[in-house]
Amino acid sequence: MAAKNIKTIKILGIDTSCDDTSIALVKIQDTRYKILSNVVSSQVKLHAKYGGVFPSLAKREHQKNLPAVLNEALRFASLSQGEIDFVAVTSGPGLEPCLWQGINFAQEIAKKYKKPLIPVNHIEAHILANLIEGSPTSFNLPAIALVVSGGHTQLILIKKIGRYRLIGETRDDAAGECFDKAARILGLSYPGGPIIAAEAAKYKIQNTSHKLQLPRPMMYTKDYDFSFSGLKTAVLYMVKQGNYDKIEMCREIQQSIIDVLIHKTIKAAKDFGVKSIILGGGVAANQELRNQFELKINPDANMSGLRPKRRRNQKSKIKFLVPPEILCTDNAAMVAVAAYFHRAEKVKNIEADANLRI
Ligand code: KG4
Ligand code: ZN
Repeated sequence: MAAKNIKTIKILGIDTSCDDTSIALVKIQDTRYKILSNVVSSQVKLHAKYGGVFPSLAKREHQKNLPAVLNEALRFASLSQGEIDFVAVTSGPGLEPCLWQGINFAQEIAKKYKKPLIPVNHIEAHILANLIEGSPTSFNLPAIALVVSGGHTQLILIKKIGRYRLIGETRDDAAGECFDKAARILGLSYPGGPIIAAEAAKYKIQNTSHKLQLPRPMMYTKDYDFSFSGLKTAVLYMVKQGNYDKIEMCREIQQSIIDVLIHKTIKAAKDFGVKSIILGGGVAANQELRNQFELKINPDANMSGLRPKRRRNQKSKIKFLVPPEILCTDNAAMVAVAAYFHRAEKVKNIEADANLRI
């Protein structure tokens, strides 16, 4: 019997939406997504002294880093330019000057390689990061996706890949932004999420008595929206008053954000009768959030036996998907995967759209 001829597609993805310059090569065969390379050049140290991302500085860094990141991605994947089928780039949402830097570079590359260029929505890419190195049937649809990053906190109903309905989002600060701003108030470095998480992890070890209580904004409202600016203000108020334990404060900030995110996501999952809950975005790298989501969805799960990489809930009716931590924060492999679903669309003009909606 003749071997089945399965077409392999190789996509080069580029993401410069915020402060990471990333280029990846992903091979897609038989609806399986394999990362050949996923290079992320982080500008964290540069922006740390400003306590957040400085757009014009980030743009200049992207410009400087892109050629070297491309070479590294090609070298690591052992691919030549001729072996690439498509070039993909994040066109939004994100910081406009940064997005343009990636788009201009992608246009040059696509022209040089004589390959089609595909624009990608960064939010969709965060969701589809869950398909990478998973099975083709990873998504049990309909699903609710919670995208939690430095710029977004959104609940999205997915009927099928490519058909999304935004059902709720933050009315002010994003969850990641709240971590970052709270860290700044506490005199901690940027990005605040992983730093607050590391401080919070010391809480159990210290066994400090728990006195401090922060609000859980909008946790019980009937809609699917969020609000985190009040939480940040409450932290500021307590810090000004003094007399607080930093570790306990970090633990309470993290727990407040986790409580709200889990409560609202599970409410949405029940209301819409979905088959899976899908996480994405930098805040989804938070270990406590991942553990507590898993426990809430599947109370029988033995956490110690679960690998932090990818957790799939077999027993309960709702399947829980979260990418490996490295694919939660910004990367270009997720951009290449999202582009795969849009490769047949003809796009004439690619423009940066800082506020692009899903
Ligand atoms: O998705 P991402 O890399 O970039 C955006 O698209 O915004 O998300 C960055 C955000 C930052 O606010 C950062 O503090 C947060 O994700 N973050 C975390 C963790 N790792 C990154 N928040 C909580 N816990 C973490 N482990
Ligand atoms: Zn992102």
